[in-house]
Amino acid sequence: MVYDIEMLRSFYSNFPKRVDAAREKIGRPMTLAEKILYAHLYDEEALRLFRRGDDYVNFRPDRVAMQDATAQMALLQFMNAGKDKSAVPATVHCDHLIQANIGAKADIETATKGNSEVYDFLKSVSDKFGIGFWKPGAGIIHQVVLENYAFPGGMMVGTDSHTPNAGGLGMVAIGVGGADAVDVMTGMEWELKMPKLIGVKLTGRLNGWASPKDVILKLAGILTVKGGTNAIIEYFGEGASSISATGKATICNMGAEVGATTSLFPYDLNMATYLRATGRDTVAAWADAIQDYLEADMEVRAQPDEYYDRVIVIDLSELEPHINGPFTPDAATPISEFAAKVKANGYPRKMEVGLIGSCTNSSYQDLSRAVSIARQAFEDKIPVASPLIINPGSEQIRYTAERDGIIGDFEKIGATIMANACGPCIGQWKRHTDDNTRKNSIVTSFNRNFAKRADGNPNTHAFVASPELTLALTIAGDLCFNPLTDTLKTEDGREVKLREPQGTDFPPDGFDVKDNGYLAPTGKNVVVNINPESNRLQVLQPFAPWDGNDLLEMPLLIKASGKCTTDHISMAGPWLRFRGHLENISDNMLMGAVNAFNGQTNAVLNQLNNEYEAVSAVAKQYKAKGISSIVVAEENYGEGSSREHAAMEPRFLNVKVILAKSFARIHETNLKKQGMLALTFVNKEDYDKIRENDHISIVGLKDFAPGKPLAAILYHADGTQESFPVNHTYNDLQIKWFKAGSALNVAH
Ligand code: F3S
Repeated sequence: MVYDIEMLRSFYSNFPKRVDAAREKIGRPMTLAEKILYAHLYDEEALRLFRRGDDYVNFRPDRVAMQDATAQMALLQFMNAGKDKSAVPATVHCDHLIQANIGAKADIETATKGNSEVYDFLKSVSDKFGIGFWKPGAGIIHQVVLENYAFPGGMMVGTDSHTPNAGGLGMVAIGVGGADAVDVMTGMEWELKMPKLIGVKLTGRLNGWASPKDVILKLAGILTVKGGTNAIIEYFGEGASSISATGKATICNMGAEVGATTSLFPYDLNMATYLRATGRDTVAAWADAIQDYLEADMEVRAQPDEYYDRVIVIDLSELEPHINGPFTPDAATPISEFAAKVKANGYPRKMEVGLIGSCTNSSYQDLSRAVSIARQAFEDKIPVASPLIINPGSEQIRYTAERDGIIGDFEKIGATIMANACGPCIGQWKRHTDDNTRKNSIVTSFNRNFAKRADGNPNTHAFVASPELTLALTIAGDLCFNPLTDTLKTEDGREVKLREPQGTDFPPDGFDVKDNGYLAPTGKNVVVNINPESNRLQVLQPFAPWDGNDLLEMPLLIKASGKCTTDHISMAGPWLRFRGHLENISDNMLMGAVNAFNGQTNAVLNQLNNEYEAVSAVAKQYKAKGISSIVVAEENYGEGSSREHAAMEPRFLNVKVILAKSFARIHETNLKKQGMLALTFVNKEDYDKIRENDHISIVGLKDFAPGKPLAAILYHADGTQESFPVNHTYNDLQIKWFKAGSALNVAH
């Protein structure tokens, strides 16, 4: 058993009392998200009605999960906190650093060799501080968490933006930066602004080609990449209970793509069955006993408009399969309209590779539905036009799928089975292609499709869809193929239509696994070594505190135009190897951001020599001369992942301020935690006033206070000046972080 049964026993015996106390105090019926949040207040004495979207609240999450790329920085920070042991159960998952190249076995061997220094570091730190360690190949963090740790009513934080996947088991699971994870692991309060609530009522029942993925693909189209910001999406309705637990997890997982704090479903029979199928009968029995507490109160379900900030209704019976993309996950198109969109926009019609996997869609159910399409192709002798890549979600899924003939049947149509890991989803893909410069299309069952994310190639148009639709398009090799209406030609010239996918939620003979890849901490005296010569790991030095002065006449480093996600700020792919070495990874800072003045990436004006150079190179030269700089950006800056490197790199290279039209939640917090100033334009048109060779001051810092705007002064090269107000969302504690140089400098 890998989970902490005593912690869960105490949790389920206390949860109803806490919810009852909260309901009495706030004096009205509660949504499920509210029950879980109020039951996890850090200080029960602080219980009162918190204003959603306004009040900062301190919570006490039950557990922490970390993936290997973010765990390095999280644990380097934890090591500076002076604790002997993590205060809550925590796990590390080695899933991001395995490159998909020729197949699982060889790729894991290569990764284990190439990343041995990092894996040894993570293993020894985990062992020392009582943290569970999942070896490379054990699986993708969110599938492993769902199979082993997620529990209805619980609250966890994870250093990965798709942590909300655990909402599929009724948990409030939130993606955070490493510094937040450190707060929780040290037993400190963890702060979050009380989220707003979006209720999504699901009616009807999925049928035919429609899958859980299509629920969230459609919702992404409704809400867009910003629509869930600072909100929890809570699903309810009879349609919700018709979806399997892993299907619910898929939907919650991709709530990250609309910026939601998290997403969750109420506890139901499908969750209980999943808990039992994954060896957690006791948890299911405890949850069964308090079922009423694990769903929204009856009055809320009857009058949702009164209790949620917004209500959206989706009729599953009418839901069409969707394909979203390219370049953004909210470009939602129903399959019936997709071919026309491809033609109208001139997207490369040839579908070059199909990829099934990622934490979003790699469950047993996903594989079993997709393989039903693969089997038709094989049995009907339909040629498969494109290469197919599969990344199972965990070793338990892979082992069981192999036993049940699923893996073998994928291989029969030419699939390459990669490691149980993120692989191409995070740019860890050695793509075999004849021409990198050709515009090309791929379809994946992943969650993100930002430019360059899968293969580092800006010419790749990535579309996201369900696993079954991905497989159908892989067979056709044509983006304009619609399996609901179109036929395919068999080897002997017959025209056949693919039958609707069929699958099972659970393996008929139960899950099985030989070695799940888990190493429990021994708690023995372990020595953690970091070689000072290493180019992968570097001991963290605390950032300097604020010097007490306004930030004066900083040269503009870059004015970014358009999307600036964490992938643009701190690219993944090959750069993942430096996630434990702040100095080295800072070389990638903002290399994907588009310079508003020349439309190019990684070419900004160096105001010291009037040359165009890489963003990090310019920042380094400013830093060497003791000059601070400022970054200006547009909407939803820092959208995407929880990687705090996107905040630490600018901090390290002496960027003091990010001034944007708006921020993504996790990234804004990450900036604050690292002692940066995250400011927004009061008037968004002021963005247009910023010129390439401007120097910019931020003034008013001596009176830095919650709710009080600061001011920006632009010094143009022609000697003129302009100034305008800038907003911030810092509370008292966060202002302390800024003054101390970082949250870590204050807290531990
Ligand atoms: Fe990994 Fe991609 Fe999920 S990077 S954790 S599979 S979003």
